[in-house]
Amino acid sequence: MTGNGEPARIVGFAGSSRSESFNKKLVRIALDSCSALGAETTWVDLKDYVLPVYDGDLEAAEGLPENAARLKEIFSAHQGFVISAPEYNGSISALLKNTLDWVSRSPEASPDLAPYQGKFAAIMAASPSPLGGLRGLRVAREVLTNIGVTVVAEQVTVRAAYNAFSEDGQFVEDSNQHHVDRVCKQLVAILQTRAGDS
Ligand SMILES: Cc1cc2nc3c(=O)[nH]c(=O)nc-3n(C[C@H](O)[C@H](O)[C@H](O)COP(=O)(O)O)c2cc1C
Repeated sequence: MTGNGEPARIVGFAGSSRSESFNKKLVRIALDSCSALGAETTWVDLKDYVLPVYDGDLEAAEGLPENAARLKEIFSAHQGFVISAPEYNGSISALLKNTLDWVSRSPEASPDLAPYQGKFAAIMAASPSPLGGLRGLRVAREVLTNIGVTVVAEQVTVRAAYNAFSEDGQFVEDSNQHHVDRVCKQLVAILQTRAGDS
């Protein structure tokens, strides 16, 4: 429960639209972990919220795309984020950045960071590589911090992702589950102590 007696609300999504995305599997596991800790969770598949690449001319002509407005509403209704960021060429995916960018826009054509500011996030990554997407998380942390999200200190990387998940979408190794649980515990604890303040 948060300071106002309500469960912490956490929305989770991955910066990949791929159906068999490792990062989607990771977020689903993390949201289950947050639920077990008493949080209310919402899963968002960005494949259901297709957006054009951000274009100022398009925004000026047509305003915020409907899917951006829908995501903005969803993000605004939650106090916490679980974000799994696939690493693309050492950074975050275009899908993740484009989504964060569109949701930061307002009808006044200036950044509206309300869906992010004062919120908290746990970040994670899954990758086939031995680093598990670690380099992309450095960027994810920086971008989220810049838009007003406090990212919990510990983060999750899942290496050798091809072998990390079972067919039913769970971890093969207990150590990965323990790590996710530990980070989710930190996120939920922060939300429980801080969310009632806002
Ligand atoms: C354009 C591109 C660049 C990539 N660059 C990296 C990289 O820098 N580091 C890495 O660990 N994996 C990299 N990968 C591999 C991704 O980690 C891998 O495709 C992963 O499965 C993507 O996440 P998903 O399973 O959630 O879709 C790259 C993949 C693509 C398509």
